[in-house]
Amino acid sequence: MTLENLEIVHVVAMDQQHCIGKENQLPWHLPADLKHFKAITQGGVVVMGRKTLESMGRTLPNRVNWVITRDPSWSFEGTKVAHSIDAALQGALADVQASEKPNRIFIIGGGEIFSQTMHLATHLELTHVALDVQGDAHYPAIPSEFKKIASEQHIDDKTGIAFEFASYQK
Ligand SMILES: NC(=O)c1ccc[n+]([C@@H]2O[C@H](COP(=O)([O-])OP(=O)(O)OC[C@H]3O[C@@H](n4cnc5c(N)ncnc54)[C@H](OP(=O)(O)O)[C@@H]3O)[C@@H](O)[C@H]2O)c1
Repeated sequence: MTLENLEIVHVVAMDQQHCIGKENQLPWHLPADLKHFKAITQGGVVVMGRKTLESMGRTLPNRVNWVITRDPSWSFEGTKVAHSIDAALQGALADVQASEKPNRIFIIGGGEIFSQTMHLATHLELTHVALDVQGDAHYPAIPSEFKKIASEQHIDDKTGIAFEFASYQK
């Protein structure tokens, strides 16, 4: 098995300006999106930057959590640590076959990690949130070779915020 045989999936929620985070937090609270994220990644192998793990403050249960940092002394209970994107993906590759989602590696952020892996992504599971939150972490431009293959429109009951679950494929 090599990375070329796998789907490499970005899973992310972004606003109209591709903003994904503000002061190291998610800028919105959308329970339906958290549920959607869980359904997509549950049982699988996720890869994230150190700041994303720390912003969550915990590992994601029932998933293998790979975290990327340049800090050789960084550790966090329940995570597997890599010091480059390549090392994280090779580590994820070694874990994925034994997981419940053996054909997909999920890259879950944040902005730095999405930017550095866009050229490797084969699928994008994007939540487009109809807001403009003016934050400080962003998702890169979506390359034109990605085509939208599925879309679902929703509105959050409590806040009235509109959002779309959209799947893209190369
Ligand atoms: N809306 C969403 O779906 C979503 C998803 C995820 C995250 N977020 C948000 O995004 C924000 C965090 O994103 P971010 O861009 O600031 O940080 P990030 O991508 O989560 O993490 C950045 C860190 O990753 C490590 N890193 C990056 N490139 C590396 C490389 N090539 N080799 C080794 N280590 C590398 C570095 O860690 P060290 O500094 O330890 O070396 C760097 O500081 C937060 O606001 C979070 O809430 C939103």
